[in-house]
Amino acid sequence: MTLAISFTKKPFVKDADTAVVGVCVDNKLSDEAETLDKQLGGVISAFLARQKKFTGKKNQLLSVTLPADAPYIRVLVYGCGKDDELKPLDFEKLGEKLMGAYGSSGTETSVLFCDNAEAAASIALGVKSKTYKYEKFKTKKEDEPEIDLQKLEIVCAKAPEALKIYDRYVCAEEGVMLAKDLINEPANHLYPESYAERIKDELKPLGIEVEIIDDKKMKKLGFHAHLAVGQGAAYPPRVVVMRWNGGKAKEAPVGLVGKGVTFDTGGLNLKPTGSIENMKCDMGGSATVVGVMKTLALRKAKVNAVGVVGLVENAISDRSYKPSDIINSMAGKTIEVLNTDAEGRLVLIDSLTYIQRTYKPQFVVNLATLTGAIIVALSPEFCGVFANDDELWGRLNAASEKTGEKLWRMPLHEVFRKDVENPIADLQNMGKMGRWGGACTAASFLEHFIEEGTKWAHMDIAGVAIKTMGKTFAPQQANGFGIKLLDRMIEEHYE
Ligand code: BES
Ligand code: ZN
Ligand code: ZN
Repeated sequence: MTLAISFTKKPFVKDADTAVVGVCVDNKLSDEAETLDKQLGGVISAFLARQKKFTGKKNQLLSVTLPADAPYIRVLVYGCGKDDELKPLDFEKLGEKLMGAYGSSGTETSVLFCDNAEAAASIALGVKSKTYKYEKFKTKKEDEPEIDLQKLEIVCAKAPEALKIYDRYVCAEEGVMLAKDLINEPANHLYPESYAERIKDELKPLGIEVEIIDDKKMKKLGFHAHLAVGQGAAYPPRVVVMRWNGGKAKEAPVGLVGKGVTFDTGGLNLKPTGSIENMKCDMGGSATVVGVMKTLALRKAKVNAVGVVGLVENAISDRSYKPSDIINSMAGKTIEVLNTDAEGRLVLIDSLTYIQRTYKPQFVVNLATLTGAIIVALSPEFCGVFANDDELWGRLNAASEKTGEKLWRMPLHEVFRKDVENPIADLQNMGKMGRWGGACTAASFLEHFIEEGTKWAHMDIAGVAIKTMGKTFAPQQANGFGIKLLDRMIEEHYE
């Protein structure tokens, strides 16, 4: 679907299906609403006076049908609440909600009046985000095609400023949409080799250096743990390194690492029906990294950034790694595999060692759909963050409050680090406590591979990577979680 969004200073735009305007609490018309009301001969105020439900509160939306000779079919009135109650995030949500109303009313063209530049840009962003659809495998169009919004014209006294803010927001939204496409792609189409090529095709034209490390080179470089996870699969593993050099020549980069398990069967510790169906999403962390890199390049961020993603399929065959195998890692620490389904941490540790030793980044944030335990702990609403640096955590948290991606800090502690130590190898890939504190022991396993002086945060996105919609066999949808907040944090503190 192609939607054209534009910003204009023109005070009155005629001939759209639907006009949109804000009304404050107690049905006090905003300046824009008052102007429109006058132009429409007082229809809006008369309509508001005759009904009781809409009072101008936040989250309210009312459709006012206009007479046949009016320039629009209807006016949608949204509640602005008290004074400056609505924040940019509320306007973004409003944009999303408007898309629902456009859909149900069959609106193809709309004009929206809003004189606040940031609010106007946020509404436009919410609308744009709702245009995302993943339908590339549909061969048959629906019998009754949905009527989609084709044109949205936003009338704003500060139109140039609104457009500038919107253009900035859209860079991150493009990153989000790419991540959604990657996560939604099934594992028979997106496997390590095809995924690596896809990253190259998407990012190279934007000026990002993309280096694909194949399985032979991985062996030479010492990606032992990652290779062990992949040894049972027909598809060979890959590591992809992405470099965006927008900062000063010698400045240390910011570092991002992502888990890219293109399908997680659980391996010989096979996942049961009910747990396996969504496991194409197990590369969600890597998709976030790819999305952030795209965003940085689109907005020509003045920063050096390196992203490393470990791509692999966790499959079953006569060659699969087995529980009780003792494997090596790039850092040289040996690991007893107690559960082949705790594969994400094995993939991540080699990429973590690689990025720290090769690039000495200012910080490393890794993202991974790492544990079911984080969903038990925090629900699908929050992403769990484990950070060894208060400042880094503070910056992530502050950015997340602006973008609405909810984070909650979780503990790193010696008890968990000890819990993954092993009597016959250096470490084991799950805690001796088993399910107890599963998200914390997974994080502490990663912590064993964080080198002295590295500022690091691990984001467990198992709960937030996809909308679970409560039903195992309902179609799942990717969220693109984390891109906006990482992009914001980088912009605010590292450019
Ligand atoms: N990919 C899963 C975690 C996951 C669960 C992601 C649900 C998304 C939704 C991970 O590889 C895994 O299986 N973890 C195990 C670890 C356990 C064996 C120690 C888990 O969480 O059960
Ligand atoms: Zn697993
Ligand atoms: Zn996994």
